[in-house]
Amino acid sequence: MCGIIGYVGQRQAAPILLNGLRKLEYRGYDSSGIGVIDSKRGSIIVRKMPGKIAKLAALIERQPVGAARIGISHTRWATHGVPNKVNAHPHWDQSKKILVVHNGIIENYESIKKFLQSEGVRFISETDTEVVAQLIGFYYRGDFVSAVQKALVRLQGTFALGILCQDATETLITARIGSPLIIGVGEGEYFIASDVPAILEETRHIIYLKDGEMAVMKPDGIEVMTFKGKPLAPKVDTVKFNVDAVKKQGFPHYMLKEIHEQPSVLETMIKSRIKGNRVELEGVSLTDHQLKKLRNIVIVACGTAYHAGMIGRYLIERVAGLPVSVDAASEFRYRDPILNSQTLVVAISQSGETADTLAAVREAHKKGARVISICNVVGSSLARESDGVLYTHAGPEIGVASTKAYVAQITMLYFLALKLGSFTGKVPLAERKRIISALKHMPRLYEDILRHKTAIAKIAKKNSHFGCFLFLGRNINYPSALEGALKLKEISYIPAEGYAAGEMKHGPIALIDEYRAVVCMAPQSETYDKMISNMQEIRARKGKIIAIATEGDLSIRKHAHHVIYVPKTHHLLTPLAVALPFQLFAYYVAVQLGCDVDQPRNLAKSVTVE
Ligand code: G6P
Repeated sequence: MCGIIGYVGQRQAAPILLNGLRKLEYRGYDSSGIGVIDSKRGSIIVRKMPGKIAKLAALIERQPVGAARIGISHTRWATHGVPNKVNAHPHWDQSKKILVVHNGIIENYESIKKFLQSEGVRFISETDTEVVAQLIGFYYRGDFVSAVQKALVRLQGTFALGILCQDATETLITARIGSPLIIGVGEGEYFIASDVPAILEETRHIIYLKDGEMAVMKPDGIEVMTFKGKPLAPKVDTVKFNVDAVKKQGFPHYMLKEIHEQPSVLETMIKSRIKGNRVELEGVSLTDHQLKKLRNIVIVACGTAYHAGMIGRYLIERVAGLPVSVDAASEFRYRDPILNSQTLVVAISQSGETADTLAAVREAHKKGARVISICNVVGSSLARESDGVLYTHAGPEIGVASTKAYVAQITMLYFLALKLGSFTGKVPLAERKRIISALKHMPRLYEDILRHKTAIAKIAKKNSHFGCFLFLGRNINYPSALEGALKLKEISYIPAEGYAAGEMKHGPIALIDEYRAVVCMAPQSETYDKMISNMQEIRARKGKIIAIATEGDLSIRKHAHHVIYVPKTHHLLTPLAVALPFQLFAYYVAVQLGCDVDQPRNLAKSVTVE
């Protein structure tokens, strides 16, 4: 979603801003813009463009913005108003002195707009953001900081802001509530950005601004304060981050690179969390005594993380015998969930910035539950708001379609299930040992599948013309079917539905004919025979079948038109085994169709508005 980059210092701002914007492209956007203060001319220069950043860069090439040393820039993911030049950020106030970029949603923008209109202010865009610029402009009487503060206390909703004033040629102001924003600290220079990787080439010294805080930055120093002006002492963290991790490293797409990173993500997680036959849950923040007292688990998450959570339900119920419910975070707080101090809420999120997941965590806390998160981005809002964090440490995920984060989330859920299971004794130690041993073998299994990826590419190519796909799975692989369908539709735009195979006869079977293809999760398991029956029913109606099955299962060839084999593993680990083939399948279909794999249309990597 929207991305912000800002700079104040001694260097030329425009190249730094454009470079930072390119690093934020992965978040998803449909227009972009940049605004700088040319101190020589004493004026603000703005350039905006619908479409890709390359178009903005070309515009700046034709119409340079000069050697300004301060500026703000933005990638916009449209919420209020279509993605055009007028609605693109930055936005001015009507005196053209105040310039604003914004990520989030100003919920009371209509009432503020009405008030400002009644005071004679004229608006030119459809955005909620223009209200912020106009409100600061309305209060501005020569004191930039005080005008910003007066405006901030009137805003409701979520926001991260970058703000400039034409009269304050060396002052960059930022503020946030609910939307991500970090400050980079350099030598005589400051950066603001929506995430750390965007400014890693510039600095590793980061201030994580908290909700309700603002910062006033000049080349010679920074002041952090509350919106009401109470001074705060900023804490500067040094991030350890491999810059190469955010490069494609020879792969044609980030998604393929991230798919290939999965064996090492698994390896690292397993090595750091499994000691012999014991699982270590460092970060969980609950003592063994507290873990033993838990009576139920509630998992909240969105998108791919939600599917990982659904697998978690099967795992925890099977291995630990504790009741688990799973909610799409966007639904959680509206159903008035029943929670208490013996409920553990597990929030799963790659980015740790998903607005709905954060809202669910706040609701859980309000109701007295403990919250732990399974999160990838260190220091994210979710990590900060949870009582404990289990970091997946999968490295930055840039492809919008989540792959390695999904596999890492599921893996963490195995650890959690095993740990809880060691207290409840639901399954005997010998069975838990078998699961651990299968987990330890998983990196090799992934390498094996990757070695045969060209076979999957061929099957994808042959089937990329189908106009509709159904993904079926049963039991613990029902969520795999949902995730397989999600991967395909996200990046290839082919309508794809995931279904519990047992539900096929209650609706989706009406879709089946020779023009539709069905991907069946059919590894060896207790529901294997039932899946075979589904396949026969599909075949009888001329549907094309692609099965993901266990190596050595030759008889499945009688039922499926194409078979993707995965090595045998413990039946509870089959969601990991089938994930890699369906990710690769979606990837190769999208490549075959010429789609923008890493930045699919309309999608955002990090959904920071509800
Ligand atoms: C967006 C992304 C998905 C992701 C979901 C949840 O929709 O495109 O890939 O699964 O958000 O994101 P999170 O960062 O909370 O895991």
